[in-house]
Formats: sequence, C-alpha cells, structure tokens
Amino acid sequence: MNQPETLASLQASVHAPESVKHVRLLAWVREIASLTQPDSIYWCDGSLAEYDRLCGELVKAGTFKKLNEAKRPNSYLAWSDPTDVARVEDRTFICCEKKEDAGPTNNWMAPAEMRNTLQPLFTGSMRGRTMYVVPFSMGPLGSDIAHIGVELSDSPYVAVNMKIMTRMGKGALDVLGSDGEFVPCVHTVGAPLLNGQADVAWPCNKTKYIVHYPESREIWSYGSGYGGNALLGKKCFALRIASTMGKKDGWLAEHMLILGVTNPQGKKYHVAAAFPSACGKTNFAMLIPPKGFEGWKVTTIGDDIAWIKPGADGRLYAINPEAGYFGVAPGTNEQSNANCMASLNRDVIFTNVALTDDGDVWWEGMTKTPPAHLIDWQGNNWTPESARATGQKAAHPNARFTVAAVNNPALDSAWDDPKGVAIDAFIFGGRRATTVPLVTEARDWVEGVYMAATMGTETTAAQAGAQGIVRRDPFAMLPFAGYNMADYFAHWLELGAKLEKRGAKLPKIFTVNWFRKDADGKFVWPGFGDNMRVMAWMLERIEGSSGGSEHAFGTTPNFTDLNWNGLAFTEAQFESVVSIDHDAWRAELKLHDDLFAQLTNLPAALLTTKAKIEARLGA
Ligand code: OXD
Ligand code: MN
Repeated sequence: MNQPETLASLQASVHAPESVKHVRLLAWVREIASLTQPDSIYWCDGSLAEYDRLCGELVKAGTFKKLNEAKRPNSYLAWSDPTDVARVEDRTFICCEKKEDAGPTNNWMAPAEMRNTLQPLFTGSMRGRTMYVVPFSMGPLGSDIAHIGVELSDSPYVAVNMKIMTRMGKGALDVLGSDGEFVPCVHTVGAPLLNGQADVAWPCNKTKYIVHYPESREIWSYGSGYGGNALLGKKCFALRIASTMGKKDGWLAEHMLILGVTNPQGKKYHVAAAFPSACGKTNFAMLIPPKGFEGWKVTTIGDDIAWIKPGADGRLYAINPEAGYFGVAPGTNEQSNANCMASLNRDVIFTNVALTDDGDVWWEGMTKTPPAHLIDWQGNNWTPESARATGQKAAHPNARFTVAAVNNPALDSAWDDPKGVAIDAFIFGGRRATTVPLVTEARDWVEGVYMAATMGTETTAAQAGAQGIVRRDPFAMLPFAGYNMADYFAHWLELGAKLEKRGAKLPKIFTVNWFRKDADGKFVWPGFGDNMRVMAWMLERIEGSSGGSEHAFGTTPNFTDLNWNGLAFTEAQFESVVSIDHDAWRAELKLHDDLFAQLTNLPAALLTTKAKIEARLGA
C-alpha cells in the first residue's frame, strides 16, 4: 500500500525551504515543474542579497548592462527583443465558461479549449532554465484589502522586477501560512534551451498567449518577457483577475493612480484617477504644485492601480496593490516630472532606453539637447543626425523604468497603510485633441459612471498596434476588465447605489482632458504641474466653495473659478479648452451608441442618462 506523502518529501521534490508548509502550493509547484520541466527550481526570498545576485547573473547572461555606478548607482539596462516591446492585447484572453461573461471587449476562448491549446506549448517550455517561485502580496502585507499571488517564471528578469513591483518573497509566504488563498500565475518565455543550446539576451517566442481563467482565478502567460505580459501581479492579477474578484465580493479593482492633496489649511484629500496607458498618470501621481500654489502638497500613494473596498463607515478605502512603478520613460524630464526624475537617481531597472557613452541612460524628451552619440535600444549607433535621417528613436516609445515606490521623494506617509485611504474624488481622463472639455463635474454618481463608461482616447505606444486612433476606453479599463463591460458598469452603479442607501457620502466624479489641441496641432493646456489648478477647483467643489457652469453633461468651471496665480493663460485660451461644441457632442453621443450596441445587458440607467444629455443638447 502507498504511504501518504510526507511534507518533507513534498518540499524536497520542489526544493522548497522547510518553512514552506503550504501543501497545496507545494503540490502545484510540483505539477507545473513536471509540466514545464525546468532544470532547477529556486524559491525567491525577496532579500536584497538575492536581488543583487540575480542582477549579477543577468549581467553575466547579457540581459542586463550595469550602468555607471557613479552616475546611476545600483541600476541596470535591459534591451528586449525588438518584437517583444509592449502588452499584446490581441493575444490576451479571458477564458470563462460562458462567452458572454467575458463580453465583446475581451478575447474569449472556452477554458477547456484554451487548456488544450496551452498544454503542448507549456510542456517542456522551461527546459534548460531555472523556474523561479515568486510569492508576492498585492498590497501591504496582511492588509484586509490585499491578496497573495505566486508566479512561477523561467525569467530572472521577471523575478527581479517582481521584487521591485510587489511585496515579494518570504513576507508573502508568511502571510500565506499553511493554507492561505493565492492566485497561481504561470509564466514562461517559451524558449526552452535544448542540449546545451546557448541562451540569448532576451528569450521569448513569436507565439504569445496571456491567459486568464477568472473562475479558477489562474493566470498563464506564454512567449513574452515584457511588462504587463510577464509581471503577472500587475495587469493580469491586479486588474483582470482582481476585477472579477471585486465584482463577486463587492469591491473595485481599477486602473487608477491614488494621490493625497493637502491644502494650505492642512486639510488632506485623497483622489483616485483613471487614465489610459501612457497618458501622464505617473506625472499626475507625482505632481508638483506650480508657482502660485504655495502651501499645497501632493503626495503619491500609487501610480497605476487601485484596489478599493467599502469600509465600515460606508466610505471607499483604497490601497495601491503595487510596491513600485513600471513607468514610461520617454517624455519624462525635470519639467514634466521632477519627482520621477529624482526617483530614478538610483536602484532602477531600465528597459529599452538608450545607453550613453559614459554608461548612463537617455530617452527622447529627457533633455532638450540629445547627447551627440548613443547606443539605441536595439544596440545600434545613434546620433541626432542619424535620427533626423532615419527617424530612428534612441529609446523605444514604450521604454520603461522599474523603480521602488520608496525612491519617490513625494511618497505619501500612508502609501503602505493596510487600512488604505478614504477616497474623496474619482477623476477619469482620456487623450482627446478635440470635443472633451478640460474638466467636468458629474451631477451625480450615475452621470459620472456614464461619462467614465463612454470615455474615448487616442491610442499610444503602451499597446501594440496603430497609435493616435480614438477608441472607447471605458474607465481606462478596456484592456483590463476581466469580465463583461456591461456587468462592470452595473457593478459601479450598484456599488454606488448600495453605499448611498447606507447614507454614505460618495466620492464626487470628474472627467478631465489635458490634451485639447489648437488649430496648429499644439496642446493648449500647459498640463503637468498646472493640472493642480484643475485639482484645486475639484477639491473646492467637494467643499461647495467654488463655482461653475452647468451644461449638457455636468458642470465646468468658468475662467474666474480657477486660480491663475503664476500662469499667464488668457480667457480665450481657457475658452478653447472648455468650450462645448454641440454638433461635436451630438456626433460623440452617436459614437457612444457604437460601444453600447456591442453590449447586451447594458444597465438601463446609462441609456436614461444618455437620453437626458441628448435632450439637453437639443436635436
Ligand atoms: C501600464 C499600462 O504599463 O497601462 O501601466 O500599459
Ligand atoms: Mn497602466
């Protein structure tokens, strides 16, 4: 008769430390190892010594270049395969039993069919490589709002990035204990090394699958080593899987930054803001109040994702599930984001930026005058002259930095608070050259949900595919909602109604657009630090101490409602960023129909709201 397996033999079979007593976790690691057949298994403890050692190995392997220690201490540069540079939305799948649960905005495949598709791809996919066991907490360790994941990856680049981006290692395993819940995440670059075959600097596979099984809460990622395709805590867990968890359990997982704003009287507010990828979220999260706003302070809680749960008092409490920033480098400079530049002084992993002759980094927009010579992100010589002739960028437009939140000089003292912070306002912003005004306050929760649901934006380099095309990006969640968008809208409406019924004061909802252009194609609004002027107006609206004009879809400030101290911005310029062209809006509402027509089960409240806006606009 077979003897029951002992914990010790289970641990030994996957080279787990003795402290790991979670039988389900150990058995799952063994199952994935027998499927993917790595040469060895390594359990990450999340220590600095481990981080330094793995980075050293990545340097030896040619994946990392160590940057000049005197200029950028403890920092590295990676150049990816030129075909593996962004999230692959067309290869991203939500695999739930019923197609309608994924909805028309997600790629769907039945779970059984997807498992059959992936089985041969994952079989032996880690041969010749180490499988890293990467336990991580999304959110402060032990927070009621946080959740644990474990990523099994054959990429040491992923392991070190996860160290920065999450609370990774022993602390997460301790929270998991012997039977805690975790989201299993399997990642392979899909490039097994057979018969002693030499590795390349950035292994990946032409075939890519980024797969989510919301019902069993699993993530399987194949073929890419880049960003959100591979750092599975971020978009895959913290947004796609977590949004389905939130739908079921009454909370929100959102593509939102979180910041604290303290006014000169010392009153502190918390704001969560959703912007599509590469629309200045990190800049807004680290905003430095401009001249004329002395006494105001902005502090960062998160720059990309918010997990928001109702508290006992009926208010919405938010945490940043991440512990670091995976931000877009191009365009970041001392003017656009001085706090970010200061965060990047040391301890950074850069991906796909250019290398300077003195062993530092550069990207488009970092300085006005580019260096006379660089090695570009594809390893080629680059000069300003060659760039003018060929159009070749020194850094890839989606080049990134990975840096710990604690490097940010504007980090909020509550960023790691397990209770989270109570949200006073939600902001939704798209990138629109025309039509959408600088800022609008929704009259109520439902109108705010309508405006967020119908948000449009021009596509950027953060996603593979054509850039600059307006697409609907509801709540900036188009590529990130793990379930049917109509159900997602309903969830927002229901949560608001439930909290309101309990007598809670709901956060106000605003929409913004920093990106209106003039006839010459130039941005009119200065943006960056001057966005503080708009934020101050929003906070005053919460207090009821500022004016505005009501229009078809909300309330927008008049010129005199904003504080213009320290900025020469004329009333005519202001008019050009807040004006509402009724014809353009009638056309815009028709485009909302295109989104709504795709969605079955659209909440009736959204159609009623639309009808009211149309009536106000007139025929
Ligand atoms: C990101 C994105 O990386 O939204 O944050 O693409
Ligand atoms: Mn993002």
